[in-house]
Amino acid sequence: MQDESPIDLPQFPESYWRASSSFPEFPKLTGSIEADVAIVGAGISGITTAYLLSKQGLSVVLIEAGRILSGTSGHTTAKVTAQHDLIYDELISNFGVEQAALYYEANWEALSFIKQTVQEQQIACDFTEEDAYVYTSSDEYIAKLAAEFKAYQNLHIPGAFVKQTPLPFPTKAAIIMKNQARFNPIPYLLHLLEQAAAHGVQIFENTTAISVEKGDRTAVVTSEGHTITCKHVVSCSHFPFIDGLSFYFARMHSERSYVLGVKTAQDYPGGMYLSAEDPKRSIRATTYNGTKMVLIGGENHKTGQGICTIQHYEALKQFAREHFGLERICYRWSAQDLITADKLPFIGQTTADSPQILVATGYKKWGMTTGTAAALLLERLVLGKESRYRELFSPVRFHLDPSLKTMIVQNADVAKHLVAGKLELLHHTPEELANDEGAVVKVNGSRAGAYRDPQGTLHIVDTTCTHMGCEVEWNHGERTWDCPCHGSRFSYKGEVLEGPAKRPLKVLTNSSSFNV
Ligand code: FES
Repeated sequence: MQDESPIDLPQFPESYWRASSSFPEFPKLTGSIEADVAIVGAGISGITTAYLLSKQGLSVVLIEAGRILSGTSGHTTAKVTAQHDLIYDELISNFGVEQAALYYEANWEALSFIKQTVQEQQIACDFTEEDAYVYTSSDEYIAKLAAEFKAYQNLHIPGAFVKQTPLPFPTKAAIIMKNQARFNPIPYLLHLLEQAAAHGVQIFENTTAISVEKGDRTAVVTSEGHTITCKHVVSCSHFPFIDGLSFYFARMHSERSYVLGVKTAQDYPGGMYLSAEDPKRSIRATTYNGTKMVLIGGENHKTGQGICTIQHYEALKQFAREHFGLERICYRWSAQDLITADKLPFIGQTTADSPQILVATGYKKWGMTTGTAAALLLERLVLGKESRYRELFSPVRFHLDPSLKTMIVQNADVAKHLVAGKLELLHHTPEELANDEGAVVKVNGSRAGAYRDPQGTLHIVDTTCTHMGCEVEWNHGERTWDCPCHGSRFSYKGEVLEGPAKRPLKVLTNSSSFNV
């Protein structure tokens, strides 16, 4: 009989990767400076690019809007793999064998780069080689897995098709990609950052880039009006901080997913796993205080469009209890990923006429490898070298199908949320909220967002997203306001956590004066 005694979720989210590391602090940019390259965003792509370019002798400035590694790179499941769910059969159908092979090779090279760097520089980051599995427990998916395995064979990807995996529950089929890896990304990236700083990279935190000036010289402009004059700008800020006429918000959508770090009664059998079908389940282990901790992830949904987000953690908890014998939940955290319409990342020149302005974004959920592949490509582009991946990942590509179809569906979805948010009936008032509770409320007859913090202070913001005017929704799992249209996220105080929005939500500061 299963043990159903209550096991609580941690009250607040915190990623194990971030919790188990200590971070150096860097100053804020307080004046205007010059460099060969200005990199915006200190996650895996930004830090790896800074490391690579500084090794080539270029002067580099790396800025981050918040703290380093506080975005998706600090909240990943940290699988280092070219097995990106079921993708290769689809890539062959949409783009042909040659392009699908290039996608695999770019990610395999990224994996090899990480492995070689860890080994050569002896980085203690729990880097462990393991096979990666996509499995199914559904009859419907057996044929899809068989087609994916055929794609592996076409592309000469080392793998296998099996019925049963080492997992402690039955599966109908699984495909294996051999010799993939997992690690703790934070010590790895802090090591690269330290090396980059030793090569002269200037690093600034709490420094938000808002635009790029073009002219005789290119300059990144910060929210405080300082400039970084440079020859190349590289945007690695998850959602690009520059749009121009690239319309990234219409060509990508954002998804949230959830992770639990759990101690289990059963021994973990090894391997990294992902379910082919929904609800997604991602399973791997890591080392925690000298023993194993199992990471159970999944429950993907479009940002701002989920059920109460705590329910996603509860679903993962139930899965851990059923299949691994849950003993304790040590950590819970979530991540946001950007997915392009054709599922290929955008890496390269943001517009055809601006070779000095580069972006890297849209890694689907595979930022450890694709973010590293991006850095390897960006290094070549900045140095003016050719790359066989340039065309495949070019942000100015336009594939009529399936990109266009997906774009139309996404933008219809945006229109639906734009209207629905304005028409909904509101029942809550701020007074009804308990401590640590948030909700959309009515203030002076209008929609507003209220959160009463654990100390009892009420924080009320205007829920109109500052990007294009959709209405944000309360995310109780993370205590944030999330936009269902293009995935912008704001803290309960209204600060921007994720773009495309650049301006904070309007704070309705004097709550006591509202006539509610
Ligand atoms: Fe575009 Fe909110 S993110 S309207």
